[in-house]
Amino acid sequence: MAIIRYIDLAGGVTELQVPAGTSVMQAAVNHGLAGIVGECGGSAMCATCHVYLDENDTDRFPPISAPEEEMLECTASPRLASSRLGCQLVVNEHDVITVRLPETQQ
Ligand code: FES
Repeated sequence: MAIIRYIDLAGGVTELQVPAGTSVMQAAVNHGLAGIVGECGGSAMCATCHVYLDENDTDRFPPISAPEEEMLECTASPRLASSRLGCQLVVNEHDVITVRLPETQQ
């Protein structure tokens, strides 16, 4: 199992325990977490799963791919250096990662 911590705008923390192989987007959607939509179902085609990945966790994931890069230019909230698509962040066994939710996804 892995642990994903989602921090909302008010600083509230939701911690989800999920199986390895689950994406940050899928875990949020499965648990009805507000703040992540995942409109395209994880195909890197909507940018409604935008999150800000904690800088300490950057190395746990592959770098931004060309399709992800393209979609990150379409986020509803400002793109920051830490911006990622939640559907492209797939956790491994024993990962403990933290993401911050943007102001809006649409
Ligand atoms: S769910 Fe659509 S880009 Fe991630």
